[in-house]
Formats: sequence, structure tokens, C-alpha cells
Amino acid sequence: MIPETNPQVDQSMDEVLHFLMQNMTVSVSGEKLARDLGVSHSRVVRWVERLRSEGIDILGEAFTGFRLTRLPDVLLPQLIRPRLHTQDFGRTLHHLYSVDSTNSYAVGLLGQDKSAAHGTVVMAERQTAGRGRRGRSWISIPGVGLYISIILRPEISSSLAPLLTLGTAVAAHDAIERATELEVDIKWPNDLLLGRKKICGILSELEAEVDHVRAMVIGVGINVNNEEFPEEIADSATSLRLELRRTHSRIEILLDFLHEFERLYEQFCEKGPSAIIDPWTRSSSFAKGRAIKVDDGVRLIRGVTDGLNALGALRILEADGGIEEVYSGDVVHWE
Ligand code: BTN
Repeated sequence: MIPETNPQVDQSMDEVLHFLMQNMTVSVSGEKLARDLGVSHSRVVRWVERLRSEGIDILGEAFTGFRLTRLPDVLLPQLIRPRLHTQDFGRTLHHLYSVDSTNSYAVGLLGQDKSAAHGTVVMAERQTAGRGRRGRSWISIPGVGLYISIILRPEISSSLAPLLTLGTAVAAHDAIERATELEVDIKWPNDLLLGRKKICGILSELEAEVDHVRAMVIGVGINVNNEEFPEEIADSATSLRLELRRTHSRIEILLDFLHEFERLYEQFCEKGPSAIIDPWTRSSSFAKGRAIKVDDGVRLIRGVTDGLNALGALRILEADGGIEEVYSGDVVHWE
């Protein structure tokens, strides 16, 4: 059975796990854990059981003592916080073992707490209803991918918001390239590809007044250590592990992504659209001279790409010589 989201329990599980990580060489009795965490013995036993059900190998019992057999790859805030090089991004972290969608959770945070901080990050080990663009779903196998959402409070007009989604793609592109030395492409607007296969998707949601952004939730899914994909997407999706035949640290990629994204965000606030459009154009083979077909939800636009306009719309040179500026859509065919 998939556990429901319970942020308090998840935080306690993180504390137990962190404690065990700091004492890898010895067995820690349930009693000591209970004393140090200031809770009852039976609670500690329950949390250890929950951690085990998440696939974390913990040896022993409460009386003989608990011990980790190997370092688990879990997005523990206790491991991430001390290594952040950012001012705001990731300074408030929510780590969940199971959630329907980190984007929905972040949107819920905005609803509960009007002051949810700029840069707040929600990360999950598993999503039970991960959401993709245009009503699609995002496969979110436990512990292998990065499933994160970041809350932003930019002081910009709504028409500039798509640029921040493009900026997210640039930051993820750079973080993945640095972690792997693979050549990553950005398919407009914000799918990351290795060859013709997708490695990362981005879903942005906007809370806006008529003319300005109140808050933005940007969700990022990166296929890191997936060993396989369901048949229906096996031809169109890949992971770093499948490409390079080794596992990667999700935490390293996350830290680099947050750092890079904050840097780009600050440059965008200082200099405006070019701070994102220029690196996006350098990182995407789709920016110029690419024969494509785009489905904008209403019609199919065919032509050759001719850069982005100042709002991040893709300029497409059509056969009749006209330029179409496409603000949202899917590239459904490319050569
Ligand atoms: C797409 O390419 O269609 C966008 C996929 C976005 C997936 C991420 S995973 C974390 C965040 N939470 C969600 O429910 N979706 C985004």
C-alpha cells in the first residue's frame, strides 16, 4: 500500500535516518533514539518500519539496536542544507517520502501560507500522481528520479513568466551536463533531451493578478537513476543511468541546479529577458535553423526556427515567408 502524505511523519523519518547515518559504525538502541529525538520508543519503532518500507536497509531491532548497512540515497534536508550555496533557493525545504504531486503540494502551501517563502523547495522520493504538461502524467518511480517544485515570487508582469520556465530548463541543462559531461539539448520550450530521448520535463503553474505574478510554482522532473521505463515511453524517455551505466547522486544534481537557477534568476531580475534568452539559445539546437512542426493546441505550425522573441516565444519561419511567434505548444516533429 502506498502511504499517504504526512509531512510530520516524514520529517521524523528524516531525523531517525540522519541519526543512523551519523552513527553508521555502531548499533543505536531504540531507547537512545527515542531519548535523543524526545519521543516514545514505540514511535521510533514505527518510523524505522516506515523507513524500511521505503527500501532503506536498517539492520537490528529496538533492543539490540538499529544500524544502517549502506548509505541510502535519500534527499535528506539535513544533508542538503549545509551544502547550499544559495541565498534563497532551497533555504526552506520540504522533503516528502510520498506525495501526489510536488507541484500540487507547493500550490497547496501557497494557499495555506500566503507568505510561503520565495525559493521554497518541495522534494519527494515518489509521486503517486506526478503531473506533466498538457494534462499528461509524469512517471515518478520511488528514489530514482528528482521530483521537485520550487516556489518563486518574482516581481514581474505575467507576460514575462514563461521566461523563468525557460531559465529553469537552462539551469537543469547546465547541472546535468556538469554532472555527466553528456551533451544535453533543450527542445522548445523546456524539455531536456539526450539524443532524441527525454531526460527532464518542467511544469510551471502561475498565480497571477491581471497584470503581475503573485507566485509561481516550477516543477522539475529529472530521470536520474531509472533502470527502465514503461513500454509506452521506453522509446522516448531515458535516464542518466541508462545512458552512462552508472548511478548518479540526486543531491549533487539538485544542489548544482538550485545554485545555477538562482544565479540566472538574479541576472534576469537585473538585466531582463536577455539573461535567459541568450543562454537558452546557446544551449538549444532548436533555437535556429531547425525544421519542426509545433502543435500550439489549435493548429500545426510547420517551418524553420528563427530564435526566440523577447518574451520567449519561438519564432517560426513558415513556407510562405511569414514569421509565426508561438507562445506555447509542443514540438511534435523535428528533423
Ligand atoms: C512535462 O514534461 O510534461 C513536465 C513534467 C514535470 C514533472 C515534474 S516532477 C515534479 C513536479 N511535480 C509534478 O507533478 N510535476 C513536476
